[in-house]
Amino acid sequence: MSNIDWGSLSFSYIKTDYNVRSYFKNGQWSELEETTSDQLNIHMAATCLHYGQEAFEGLKAFKGVDGKVRIFRMDENAKRLQRSAEGILMQPVPVELFTKAVSRAVALNMDYVPPYESGAALYIRPLLIGSGAKVGVSPSDEYTFVVFVTPVGPYFKEGFKPTKQMISRKYDRAAPLGTGHLKVGGNYAASMYAGQLAHQTGYSSVLYLDSKEKKYIDEAGPANFFAIKGNKYITPLSPSILPSITNMSLIQLAQDMGFEVERRRVPLEELEEFDEVGACGTAAVISPVGQIDDIDLGVSYTFGSPDTAGPVSTKLYNKLRGIQYGKEPDKYGWVSIV
Ligand code: PLP
Ligand code: COI
Repeated sequence: MSNIDWGSLSFSYIKTDYNVRSYFKNGQWSELEETTSDQLNIHMAATCLHYGQEAFEGLKAFKGVDGKVRIFRMDENAKRLQRSAEGILMQPVPVELFTKAVSRAVALNMDYVPPYESGAALYIRPLLIGSGAKVGVSPSDEYTFVVFVTPVGPYFKEGFKPTKQMISRKYDRAAPLGTGHLKVGGNYAASMYAGQLAHQTGYSSVLYLDSKEKKYIDEAGPANFFAIKGNKYITPLSPSILPSITNMSLIQLAQDMGFEVERRRVPLEELEEFDEVGACGTAAVISPVGQIDDIDLGVSYTFGSPDTAGPVSTKLYNKLRGIQYGKEPDKYGWVSIV
């Protein structure tokens, strides 16, 4: 651990000391278990392995300017995991068990929370899987809930520098009335092929259009879409995108800064009118988007300077980071101190 170079961390797995687990069996959740093993011993007929009964969350803990460790909005992640569980017929994790497990996982791995100056954070990954054996397609009777943590740097290697995104009508990540609004593993499997193609051709991610009409912007593979147009913060409303907790927070901060917020369908052509575009999420934080290429039509849209984030994205980024690192007042009670 002492040999971690905090300043050059990427978004990848580093083993930490402990993870915590709870098992749902015979109608109840077990007491939290702490373990040093990063392996799961799982039945080969578990529903998560065959039928994708799997949901996860992603949140972060930050070492603040005052040395305190803050977890950002974990109650919202708890609620979203419940919605994901209900959407694919898994046993929901009680909010209290979720927040206890997350807090415990961070407390047991305090040495892995990156120092304030590094700009890195401790990524927290709760996951819920159907662990009981079934052969027919039906929900498991048993579930395993795990929370592990790992120190991470920026999700996109560019950090807070503009990246390029790619639009193609040849790929969808979620069906219009499918599971796109849930954080279930299947959505990410569905996005891997196009995601890899994007990376291989120089893009940070795919920007998906709505899969029914291909007329409206949905979101990026791992993050929501937002745009700034004059005095407006605009973000898509769609049944197939993940309700991002970062986006929800930016909406509040943008309103506080006097921006008008529009959550509505965003037609593709409107890209021509935006001053700034960004991808937002726990892993991505705010990742400015400098260019979007529609590779089917050979059309490119550009926003602001290709090398630096726009002024509004920068202001929002600083405000959000300020709250997470304890530099700005936590007006809405978003952070929990461990
Ligand atoms: N959209 C998708 C598909 C994601 O995987 C994520 C990451 O969690 C987000 C958006 C951003 O959500 P949040 O801000 O809650 O991390
Ligand atoms: C997150 O932002 O937490 C995510 O889960 C995105 C990605 C790593 C899947």
